[in-house]
Amino acid sequence: MPSLVLSNVSKRFGGLLAVSDVNMEVPPGQITGLIGPNGAGKTTVVNMITGLLKLTTGSVKLGEQDITEAQAHEVAFAGVSRTFQNIRLLPEATVLENVVIGFHVHVKSSLFAQLVGLPSSLRESPRLFERGRQLLERFGMSRYADHPAGGLAYGHQRRVEMMRAVATDPQILLLDEPVAGMNDVEATELGQVFKELTASGIGLLLIEHNIRFVNQLCQQVYVLDSGAMIASGSPQEVMHDPAVVAAYLGGKK
Ligand SMILES: Nc1ncnc2c1ncn2[C@@H]1O[C@H](COP(=O)(O)OP(=O)(O)OP(=O)(O)O)[C@@H](O)[C@H]1O
Ligand SMILES: [Mg+2]
Repeated sequence: MPSLVLSNVSKRFGGLLAVSDVNMEVPPGQITGLIGPNGAGKTTVVNMITGLLKLTTGSVKLGEQDITEAQAHEVAFAGVSRTFQNIRLLPEATVLENVVIGFHVHVKSSLFAQLVGLPSSLRESPRLFERGRQLLERFGMSRYADHPAGGLAYGHQRRVEMMRAVATDPQILLLDEPVAGMNDVEATELGQVFKELTASGIGLLLIEHNIRFVNQLCQQVYVLDSGAMIASGSPQEVMHDPAVVAAYLGGKK
């Protein structure tokens, strides 16, 4: 499985340099953390990787493949999938239907087509539904298969989004605050699922505010502050870095 590599990536919004000359690697088979205070630029980085935002400078590569200019559906097709900080599900569709949409990344050409094509094309795909049920089983969500996704508790909706991302069969999975709003027990359970995903070779990027959670799961952590990468290393190294301590206490760097 390939690494995802960002080289000298920047994003300017008018007068704001939201991401500044960022270098980062997400290797296969492990969990890489991306942390930083609110507004640091974490989601902007993910939006650039996944083709939702154009880079101002720099490049994004998946192994040998340059995906810097790739459109969102091309990035997904290449093997990079994500979840959103603000959950994006089809609230009226069932949990199983929401998950099965993920399989279609390799069939249809755009997310819009996938969404629009849902009722007619997907109901005729028993094989995909069978695979969807297996995924639900793996995430401990089988009993919700036929529930409307919009009616689920927040933590369960997050799981549905994650299953949909996993259904695209990604090589790299970008998780933007996946355990936000979950209690400790739910978060720990999900952490176990993350470990299983990496054991199968997937490279995970975990954006997360809960430092303890990051410590438990990540081999390598990157720290963004005001758009700049101020530290990277093992969780232990990073947490003791004076620049990181200052960023989190709101002090001067
Ligand atoms: N589309 C946009 N247009 C203009 N400014 C933006 C846009 N998206 C993000 N920003 C700004 O870029 C900066 C970085 O935002 P971003 O959402 O990437 O931060 P974040 O690290 O994900 O924060 P949080 O932890 O709160 O989710 C912020 O100042 C934000 O207001
Ligand atoms: Mg964010």
